[in-house]
Amino acid sequence: MKNIVLFASGSGSNAENISLFFKNHPDVNVSCILSNRSNAGVLERANRLSINTFVFDREMFSQTNQVLDFLLKESPDLIVLAGFLWLVPQKIVEAFPNKIINIHPALLPQYGGKGMYGDRVHQAVIENKEKESGITIHYVNEKYDDGDIIFQGRCPVVESDTPDSLAEKVHQLEYKHYPEVIARILERQG
Ligand code: GRF
Repeated sequence: MKNIVLFASGSGSNAENISLFFKNHPDVNVSCILSNRSNAGVLERANRLSINTFVFDREMFSQTNQVLDFLLKESPDLIVLAGFLWLVPQKIVEAFPNKIINIHPALLPQYGGKGMYGDRVHQAVIENKEKESGITIHYVNEKYDDGDIIFQGRCPVVESDTPDSLAEKVHQLEYKHYPEVIARILERQG
């Protein structure tokens, strides 16, 4: 049985989508959903899905080894960031080489980096009159949105798009592709 944990800071629609995708999967289990915000919507979704949760703060994540120790004990086959806004400390990246992935709502390396998340990304894409946007699923290193790219999905950007309408197109790509990419990575792990 392969075991994955999810990290999210906000609403958690991707975390819920991934959890539902693997809900009755014979070989994959979502064992915990972790968040850096005690009032994050993802925690309500986890409770509804009867998935364990782990809430932490900066001290537990970066200053001490509390989150690292939890992960070492949980020993996930994959750590999946799904709308998680903090930089992952080097000590966690090093403890799980090629086992931490993230999804970004744009076509990296454009429109990524510190502070580029949510509507800010879609606003910038529209302001720059891009003809397409999409998602990037990548391995996580110690920098924002910088690790090797695993998958990209694309959608058109049209004149009438607003950040909301573009966000909806991007979310549909996320919901379709993120679980499938996770399943393929786990299969490749053997
Ligand atoms: C998604 O757009 C994802 O690409 C980005 O953060 C957002 C999370 O949305 N990393 P949700 O919390 O999963 O609804």
